[in-house]
Formats: sequence, structure tokens, C-alpha cells
Amino acid sequence: MCRKKIIEVEVEEFLNISELNDQDVDLIQNAKNAIALSYSPYSKFRVGAAALLDNGKVLLGSNQENASYSLCMCAERVLLGYISSLYPQSKIISMAITASNKENPVKVPISPCGACRQVLSEKEDMQNQSFSLILHGETGKVYKLNSCKSLLPLSFDNSYL
Ligand code: THU
Repeated sequence: MCRKKIIEVEVEEFLNISELNDQDVDLIQNAKNAIALSYSPYSKFRVGAAALLDNGKVLLGSNQENASYSLCMCAERVLLGYISSLYPQSKIISMAITASNKENPVKVPISPCGACRQVLSEKEDMQNQSFSLILHGETGKVYKLNSCKSLLPLSFDNSYL
């Protein structure tokens, strides 16, 4: 038996948006704009995501909820489906994710849920290239990761099938 540490997540931490480069600030701003189209009457947790593609386009997604709660769709997966439908050949360079909540303002970087991590990770496999994730709340710190896969160690993927 040996004991190993195999789960490690390395992030770049920025104290606020103003420390980021212009491209990343712009992508976060787009993610914040995407929040306007969030349909989240149940949770009141409004999530916006924006992706920069290698064709220069920036696409937006937001969470879309349903009275049948288990059908709620996260912003990240809404966006990934949109990208694959519109530009199946294009690669994602980076994605910004942010959220707001009037009753309980989001002061920490929002992090994708487990299901989204799985789908983000497979997108990196599909495009044979990792992409960065820029995570932010309404205010405060920003986390930047070089790859979605780092958020899902020991993941299940198509190599098992
Ligand atoms: N949500 C997202 O859109 N992305 C995540 O990564 C976490 C959760 C949404 C789903 C639901 O509409 C609301 O946030 C509360 O869970």
C-alpha cells in the first residue's frame, strides 16, 4: 500500500477583476450580461456563462429552470449545447462563469457543479484541447484555471467504454 495525493487543483487567484487582462475582463463582462436572460424563478440564483471560440465569436448561456426542479439546466451546459449546435468545428479558448443572487449576493467565485464538470471535461476531449475557466461572483476574487479537467480528477470518460 502507498498513500498518494492525486487530487490537486491549481488556480490563479486575482483579488478582483481589475487584475485580469482585457480579454478576460471582457469575457466576464459578457457572462454578467448573460445573467439578464437567466430564467431562475425558483432558486433566484442567476448564472451567466460566456465562451470565447477560436473563430473569435463570444457566445452566451444562462441557467434555465423548470417547475419540475430536476429539469433545471445549468448555464454552462446550456452554453455548451449552444456552441456545439452553432459551431461544431470551433474550439473553445476560454469560458467565464458568474452568478448573482439578489437575496444573498455572490461574493466568491462560482464553481461549476459536478454534472457540468463532467460535460466540460468531455468538451475538452472532443476538441482535443483544454480551455481556461474564469470564475467570478458579483464582486471579489476571480479564479482562473487552465483546464476544466483539473476540476474533475479521477473522472469517468470514454476511455473506459
Ligand atoms: N447552476 C448553474 O447554472 N451552474 C452551476 O454550475 C451551478 C448551478 C444553476 C442551476 C440552478 O438553476 C441554480 O443554479 C441553483 O442551483
